Amino acid sequence: MVWEESTRQKMLHLKLPTDPRWVGIAEMQIEDILVDHAYCEQKAASSCISLILRFVDLEELVDTLTPIVAEEWGHFERVLAQLRKRGMKFGFPRKDEYVIKLQEFVKKGGSRMQQLTEQLLLNALIEARSCERFKLLSQNIADVELQKFYYELMISEAGHYVTFIELARKYQDVEKVNLRWQEWLAYEADVLKNLEVRGDRMH
Ligand SMILES: [Fe+2]
Ligand SMILES: [Fe+2]
Repeated sequence: MVWEESTRQKMLHLKLPTDPRWVGIAEMQIEDILVDHAYCEQKAASSCISLILRFVDLEELVDTLTPIVAEEWGHFERVLAQLRKRGMKFGFPRKDEYVIKLQEFVKKGGSRMQQLTEQLLLNALIEARSCERFKLLSQNIADVELQKFYYELMISEAGHYVTFIELARKYQDVEKVNLRWQEWLAYEADVLKNLEVRGDRMH
């Protein structure tokens, strides 16, 4: 199965497509996008490290997430290189309204495995949305090198999305995970609908 087909089935469960205006304004502010993107990769690596340290007893989780930390940090390095070669400046992190809003939906309390499910679904969702945005960039921006760069990263993040969902289904009842995933998807669509469309943020 070609990537496009398999991913359409696995990934495009997002309930709301990105506002079509986003990619045009993002291209005009590509330096800001790259800086924001670098922090997305840093946060992806950091959140995997946190999960590993919190669930050291879950062997499959630790062994699955450890190489992803390296991969996400590799992405960080590559985004930084794209900035450097264009003479653009790295900068301090910006407030990530999207992730802050998503974190508000994480259920507090419950069993340890329920908490794990919440974190894995949160990560899966951010991967899915990033993947959708990378796809838009790869298909719409004029910079050929960045087209290729975002195409590659889109495939990588789609793989992470699948990994997080599969891990959630391994450690928690599948029905429960699927139900909660639908709630997360609906919530994310709502968050996105109410966020300002801006060209200096990846989300
Ligand atoms: Fe990444
Ligand atoms: Fe990722």
